[in-house]
Amino acid sequence: MCGIVGVLGTHEVAPILVEALKRLEYRGYDSAGIATVNNGHLDRRRAVGKLVNLSDRLVHEPLAGKSGIGHTRWATHGAPSEKNAHPHRTGSVAMVHNGIIENFRELRAELAAKGVVPETETDSETVAMLASYYLDSGKSPAEAARETVARLEGAFALAFLFDGEEDLMIAARKGSPLAIGHGDGEMFVGSDAIALAPLTDTITYLEEGDWAVITRQGAEIFDMQNRRVNREAKAIRMDATRIDKAGYKHFMAKEIAEQPTVLADALGAYLDGNKITLPGADLDFTKIDRLTMVACGTAFYACLTAKYWFERLAHLPVEVDIASEFRYREPPVLPGTVALFVSQSGETADTLAALRYCQEKADKIVSVVNVETSSIARESDLALPIHAGIEVGVASTKAFTCQLNVLLLLAIKAAKERGTMADSDIAGLLDQLRALPGVFNAALDRDTTIETAAQKISEARDVLFLGRGMMYPLALEGALKLKEISYIHAEAYASGELKHGPIALIDKTVPVIVMAPHDSLFDKTVSNMQEVMARGGKVCLITDAAGAAEAGEGVWQVITLPAVDERLAPLLYALPAQLLAYHAAVAKGTDVDQPRNLAKSVTVE
Ligand code: G6P
Repeated sequence: MCGIVGVLGTHEVAPILVEALKRLEYRGYDSAGIATVNNGHLDRRRAVGKLVNLSDRLVHEPLAGKSGIGHTRWATHGAPSEKNAHPHRTGSVAMVHNGIIENFRELRAELAAKGVVPETETDSETVAMLASYYLDSGKSPAEAARETVARLEGAFALAFLFDGEEDLMIAARKGSPLAIGHGDGEMFVGSDAIALAPLTDTITYLEEGDWAVITRQGAEIFDMQNRRVNREAKAIRMDATRIDKAGYKHFMAKEIAEQPTVLADALGAYLDGNKITLPGADLDFTKIDRLTMVACGTAFYACLTAKYWFERLAHLPVEVDIASEFRYREPPVLPGTVALFVSQSGETADTLAALRYCQEKADKIVSVVNVETSSIARESDLALPIHAGIEVGVASTKAFTCQLNVLLLLAIKAAKERGTMADSDIAGLLDQLRALPGVFNAALDRDTTIETAAQKISEARDVLFLGRGMMYPLALEGALKLKEISYIHAEAYASGELKHGPIALIDKTVPVIVMAPHDSLFDKTVSNMQEVMARGGKVCLITDAAGAAEAGEGVWQVITLPAVDERLAPLLYALPAQLLAYHAAVAKGTDVDQPRNLAKSVTVE
């Protein structure tokens, strides 16, 4: 959620912090701030709104110093305002926090009794208040930070700086990720490798409950029991952390356009001829009775799509759940269950909590992630990378198709091992999958038609998406994309559910986007479409040439895609769903890459 960076450097640190925060802005962008220690004195600058406001402030009120911390915020407790922006400062302590301090009310009450009063409405400030209290009662900065951390409940990644300490930074993590970067006479902390990539190529991830005393010479890391521990330093691939728009107006546009390439890369990584090979450990589907799949947001819709694949191709029963529901429901996880977690970031707090719930219960924990060094990947028995490359746009696009790809490959592997698909069928399907990047390109060429439809859709207040079978999760994803970035109210229904309620909403002001390749269910969907049109509804049909020919008169807009095997249609139909949302958002003039109120990596529950 919030992004954290810290630098004990050899140069003026303010521009370095702002640059790193730019790379973390995907985590939150409602306010930002930095603090430095200069000539022994702590000082800070903060600004509400996007990072550029902080940069402007720093031009007029520069901040000197070679030691500093920075933060980009996604508000949880307390409105987005300058006062509530991080770094928080109490006495001689400045601190940045990502996560939620769940016991902040109790801590505040305790501190109030001791005369320490808050200046903000945030839970985070309590951490600075507590550390300052311990410091004032004679503890060293490291002891004060350690004792503070021991009192905190909830999730946190923290970085502290102290007045009078130019060569000291304390970092701690529980529940929220934090990495330490190693430089030459310099040290760094950051929420992730992406933030630190231009500064260092060697990173140590703190484990759950770790805290670290960092100086320019290195880091001493301690575990929850305050035992000194060694955590492995890892090299990061610089090419994997490059962020640029490559000439596109938005990251989202670039990431949509990248899909043919990343899909081809991912296929290359998993396919050896017609053999599907998994990195690391293997997964033997003959020993599995059921799959439990858990995720949030777009990743959840990837799971819903995969349920159709696993059930149809491999006859494997699948349960799919939203992580925030699963984690508190205490569902039984029976022997023979593989628990599978899908997450682009690999840091989504609810998905991680659901994974931990399954850890002692499921036969195996498998994850499908984009960030291979993420907490979810590291805590899985088997982590399957989707090879999408960095996704910056808050609305997920290429990660979705790459998640689908890996899940489909897993379903085919399961089908082969369980003997539910003939080898010739598998070979044929894989051949078509290998051809899909080319088909993606052909679909992306329909962009102008999609843009025209999107411009009309952008005038609507409400939009319905309909889909049947594997197109139902795609309809859900299409509606999510549209509301995320264009702020148009959009709902999705299984086409068969239309008559059970949503049909009451139909009138000429509500565009209905019907996702229907010419497959075995097409005729049924066309009937539902006719029901919409009979009530004056405006149908935008996304189909293939055969579907367009059979759809009949009266369809408002038709987007025609290349025809593919119906089992591959979910991958292809993701593209027009993404492009519709993108062009509608552009037409409405919204902030496509950083839509209001959203964050890409949701590290709080
Ligand atoms: C946020 C993002 C979504 C994403 C979801 C799950 O809500 O805005 O795009 O699908 O989190 O994220 P994950 O990283 O676990 O896939």
